[in-house]
Amino acid sequence: MKKTVQLYEGKAKKVFETDTDSIVIVSYKDDATALDGLKKGTITGKGAINNRMSNFLMQLLEKEGIPTHFVEELSDRETAVKKVSIVPLEVIVRNVAAGHFAQRYGVEEGIVFDEPTIEFSYKNDDLHDPLLNSYHAVALKLADKSEIQHIKSMAFRINDILKEFFKSKNVKLVDFKMEFGRLPDGSIVLADEISPDTCRFWDLETNEKLDKDRFRRDMGGVEGAYEEMYRRVFG
Ligand code: TMP
Ligand code: ASP
Repeated sequence: MKKTVQLYEGKAKKVFETDTDSIVIVSYKDDATALDGLKKGTITGKGAINNRMSNFLMQLLEKEGIPTHFVEELSDRETAVKKVSIVPLEVIVRNVAAGHFAQRYGVEEGIVFDEPTIEFSYKNDDLHDPLLNSYHAVALKLADKSEIQHIKSMAFRINDILKEFFKSKNVKLVDFKMEFGRLPDGSIVLADEISPDTCRFWDLETNEKLDKDRFRRDMGGVEGAYEEMYRRVFG
């Protein structure tokens, strides 16, 4: 597979066309942003860690029957994935109160929910990714009703699989963000990435943060947290 023209450059990844129509190559960067892009920085080694971790998790999910965009890991930072049209929704599943949930509803971080929650944001930088419900998503024609239902059930199933996997690595999966894409035949697959950029990972015993919150909150030890997550998953 050969890279041809760059299609797109996002905050954390670049996407290239290839000599195969249905396949694109994703290249993970060490760049990090937070606070709606206001805060910018570099997390050395992040690109390679996110690439390898996301690929590993996508393959784990595939084995459990979840379709994903994953095709082949090409190098430390580069992966071939199926070309999809991204459903412009950020799908967030939460097991524990943290981040915007804790802020928005005025509760302490760390409260464990009886049941996981799901929420959607409209993936639109100009509007700052506003929260919306499934009726809004249908009204805006971001997805139809049956697609939303399918996305919800996939998201909860993915949460069950990942929660159990991370528990075996002594990690609490607090919450995470998913994006889904449509293949040319209209079927929906898990896309984007699953990594310490897009998940909250806390140590199972101490609740130490092992994810991008260390960057978002200027806590220090950012690279160390990514490396620790890599060790726990692969070590
Ligand atoms: P939140 O509490 O800030 O809404 O974040 C929930 C989860 O979603 C958390 O694991 C981080 C992830 N996330 C992203 O991947 N991208 C984003 O732009 C935001 C705001 C959150
Ligand atoms: N990456 C997102 C941004 O730059 C937010 C985040 O991950 O916190 O706004």
